[in-house]
Amino acid sequence: MKIFNLSLECYPVAKVGGLADVVGALPKYLNKIEGVEACVIMPWYNKPFVHDNEFEVVFNGWIHQSFHMFEVTVMKERSKVLGFDLYLVKIAGLLDRNNPYGYWDESQQFLAFQHAVLHWLTAMKIRPDVLHCHDYHTGLVPFMIENCPEFDFLKGVKTIGTIHNGEYQGQMNWEMADYFPWFRGDKAGLLDWNGWINPLAAMLKCCHAFNAVSEGYLDELFHSLRGLETLVQQEHAKAYGIINGIDTEVWNPKTDAFLDFNYSRENALEGKWRNKNELCKAYGLNPDLPLVSFIGRFAIEKGADLLPDIVWQSIQQTYGGLNIMVLGSGDKQIEHELKELQYSYSNFVLDLGYKEFLSHKIYASSDFLLMPSRVEPCGLNQMYAMRYGTVPVVRFTGGLRDTVEDISTGGSGINFGAATANDAVHGIHRALHIFHDKKMMDSLVHSNMDYNFSWEKSAEKYLELYRK
Ligand code: ADP
Ligand code: GLC
Repeated sequence: MKIFNLSLECYPVAKVGGLADVVGALPKYLNKIEGVEACVIMPWYNKPFVHDNEFEVVFNGWIHQSFHMFEVTVMKERSKVLGFDLYLVKIAGLLDRNNPYGYWDESQQFLAFQHAVLHWLTAMKIRPDVLHCHDYHTGLVPFMIENCPEFDFLKGVKTIGTIHNGEYQGQMNWEMADYFPWFRGDKAGLLDWNGWINPLAAMLKCCHAFNAVSEGYLDELFHSLRGLETLVQQEHAKAYGIINGIDTEVWNPKTDAFLDFNYSRENALEGKWRNKNELCKAYGLNPDLPLVSFIGRFAIEKGADLLPDIVWQSIQQTYGGLNIMVLGSGDKQIEHELKELQYSYSNFVLDLGYKEFLSHKIYASSDFLLMPSRVEPCGLNQMYAMRYGTVPVVRFTGGLRDTVEDISTGGSGINFGAATANDAVHGIHRALHIFHDKKMMDSLVHSNMDYNFSWEKSAEKYLELYRK
């Protein structure tokens, strides 16, 4: 069975968040299953990774977008180190930029990417069994292969859409149809939601099946999906919830090259302590105090706007002290408020930016990982934290609900109810209570490392869905 994953991100080639981790791992684990061949197709960005490896050009052609013609070059990566075939689609002058997102013409970029992929597959007569589309960026594909005569060859290919994050839907003005006139056909209604071309809505309407990245998040989508909830209800028969896994080969404290000290379950207490000691030394923190960390995008959905208040309140109200470390970037107002706090409190450390190596060190060194998310479709951080023996303190929502049970019922972490600073600080206080109960803390470190979030189970679930 041939599965083609279409995505804008894929670890380690280009990563902004969890989408990359999922697309860089799922095909690898699918390929371990007899009879499955999974590959990834993504845009070619100006990234060093690309230039360091050997590529073979497998296709060259042209696509029309309004008055423009773009050259399309498809390259196949030849190093074989990823565990799956990787195809990079280069569209000179449109997609060959530094980042996946954030450009004024991104609607056209994403549309051209989907167009180019289908053009290449059609021209080369490559027909996969399943086209697996990740998020709205590739959400127009199910419509395009069924309704654009240009891609008749692909008609009938099964399509799966995965919603990693329904907060973003990619709405675009109907004028965009100038770039791709097939959108004006008699099936145009399939693309429309409230007068806009809505790629996420089109994906839900046209794909053969779709899934949310956890069952908890799927439940929420029936009631809240930024205006698409009625569509989810309508299409409920093809809706699934499949929790993400984690790549336990990449995320392994025993072999992780980013750590100062590697450790396994057997020497976890010593290993974590040595890593924490190094990290605290580097940032001028007292390693004897509990370390609570946050890693992530400074976005409202992550509850990052609550962080300044959480930092302030927990430092003010904690008898005996604690350290707080935040790694991330995004919303400028949040960055500004956190920077201000850093000047006032020496036990609060802010590291602004995206730093893969540092994230690994923080997962290993922290005692607790805080996730005050308003919306969390799955969340990978809490699973990485547990894999490294760290205790998650999470808001009870979406995938966090499915992966972190509260310690009061024998679970692995701490749940809190509302996405407010007060609730989060209450969660932190409960965490600190555990920290001072050494026996309990040590036992949590060990039991959290025992959880198995590996992709094997979830890859099987995807396979079941593909087979259906
Ligand atoms: P999302 O995709 O919504 O951002 P996830 O929890 O699914 O959330 O995945 C986030 C991924 O991005 C994790 O691998 C996390 O370690 C990583 N990450 C987020 N922010 C940073 C950062 N500033 N530096 C390094 N890694 C980060
Ligand atoms: C999205 C979600 C996150 C999820 C990730 C991978 O970015 O916000 O919760 O873990 O996709 O599916």
